[in-house]
Amino acid sequence: MRAASAHPSGVLGNLPAPDVRVGPGADPSWWRQAVVYQIYPRSFADSNGDGVGDLPGITSRVDYLSRLGVDAVWLSPFYPSALADGGYDVDDYRAVDPTLGTLDDFDDLVGGLHGAGIRLVVDIVPNHTSNRHEWFREALRSAPGSSARDRYVFRTGSGIAGEQPPSDWQSLFGGPAWEPVGDGEWYLHLFAPEQPDLNWANAEVRADFLQTLRFWSDRGVDGFRVDVAHGLAKELADPMPSQRELDTGVLVDGAHPWEDRDEVHDIYREWRTVFDEYDPPRTAVAEAWVPTHRRTRYASPDGLGQAFNFDLLKAGWNAEDFHSVIEENLELAAPTSASTTWVFSNHDVVRHASRFALPDGTDLVQWLLHGGLDPAPDAELGMRRARAVTLLALALPGSTYLYQGEELGLPEVADLPTWSLQDPTWVRSAGKEKGRDGCRVPLPWTVEGPSFGFGEGASHLPQPSWFASYAVAAQLADPDSTLALYTRALQLRRALQTAETLTWVDSGSDVVAFRRPNGWCSITNFGATPIPVPPGKLLVVSDRLPDADTLPPNVTAWLRQTSGRSESEENQ
Ligand code: GLC
Repeated sequence: MRAASAHPSGVLGNLPAPDVRVGPGADPSWWRQAVVYQIYPRSFADSNGDGVGDLPGITSRVDYLSRLGVDAVWLSPFYPSALADGGYDVDDYRAVDPTLGTLDDFDDLVGGLHGAGIRLVVDIVPNHTSNRHEWFREALRSAPGSSARDRYVFRTGSGIAGEQPPSDWQSLFGGPAWEPVGDGEWYLHLFAPEQPDLNWANAEVRADFLQTLRFWSDRGVDGFRVDVAHGLAKELADPMPSQRELDTGVLVDGAHPWEDRDEVHDIYREWRTVFDEYDPPRTAVAEAWVPTHRRTRYASPDGLGQAFNFDLLKAGWNAEDFHSVIEENLELAAPTSASTTWVFSNHDVVRHASRFALPDGTDLVQWLLHGGLDPAPDAELGMRRARAVTLLALALPGSTYLYQGEELGLPEVADLPTWSLQDPTWVRSAGKEKGRDGCRVPLPWTVEGPSFGFGEGASHLPQPSWFASYAVAAQLADPDSTLALYTRALQLRRALQTAETLTWVDSGSDVVAFRRPNGWCSITNFGATPIPVPPGKLLVVSDRLPDADTLPPNVTAWLRQTSGRSESEENQ
């Protein structure tokens, strides 16, 4: 299936034509400074009007992605799933959920993306299966101590008849992390009860995942995003530590029973041998919520090769924080052969246009519970800052991960009615946390229509009426739109991309400014007063400037500087 025919008229509007690129090519380093666009498939584009986005919907928008200028797509889980956790509860790792399409549709998507020179990274969820996976069904049918149970983490309960959980651990979505199965045994689920944890000490589990990696690699997948990469290796010897001991962080650097254990890297060394069977080698990026100094182990060349760096995602609007996070991560990446990554938004966090609209330090859980009204967001400020930090990050060495809709400047939908919430967090926390649905609302493509061009019918999460003003079609008509800014920045980035280093340019304590080796310079004003625009050819700005010489607060500019003059200003 080819893309353009399925576009609602006007969706591609006046975006510049894509570069003519024939296939993604064989460059084994393609990922190092790639822009990777995350698609949450159920909320991207719905081709059949059932309210749920699907693979043909994505294929129908390949031209959009191509004109936007991304290098790769990361596809969140599209596998058969009962959606206990938005698809991160996988029933079958080598199939497509029928609601989202078929394997043929998947092949069409690979063909469409590759034809446009865009690579495809798929999510792989190895920490847990769903409770509908055939292995788990078999485990429930089988006796304690059986090989079927050994694929998961079963333990005898405590108490006289095993009626108490083996430990007091809490799941990450709230509630106990153990579920009884009625014969004195309990199984571990770090997430929802529908997500039983796998036992990675089991040889069959390990071998089967290698098959899954080959299955998708053989179908042309270019890489994998590894879910909960830090959680697979477990050591649950009795007595297990208490939840309090886990919370207080006494068990750091490899001593925690399931978080960031050293043995986890043996698993990824095995995976690397599979990645290297392909030409170019398949890539991987770890989702590892571990301290910065432990992250590089996931990104090692004999392991997954790259790891998400969430440090900027957690940073406030503060030049000093940005400076130190960038410096630390570049320093950490330098001795490894990985490149670092930059992320502001994904399907798990409040969208960054909303985060930057709130005072630093706002408790986002409470803010969502208050329907996004307390504290009141300054939407315009949030938008300006979100555009500024994205432009900053796109000038950095390393790869940048974008989340669908951020190119439209979409804010969080903070007031979703509780009846519509799908995230297990809402129920598991007994209404104390609304969860992540507000960043997963289907994209608006057109200004009108039953779901703003997402599909022919209503969308699976309700879209607010204000989505109309963020629609792709509306932004295409506006040269100052966020979509136009992203498109321009990605085009320039592709043209300017250079060695993975930068030189800091001292421009004051409220400013983050740096220059890449070819004179590509980025400057961001984090302060409250305007500053002069440095010398050089102005390439793009995150917001209009009052005049060509003044960079107002909350704005980033890219310039091209020629060596002589600017070198003298350097202060490393
Ligand atoms: C990761 C995913 C998140 C999911 C969790 C459990 O953190 O990003 O969406 O809920 O893993 O699979």
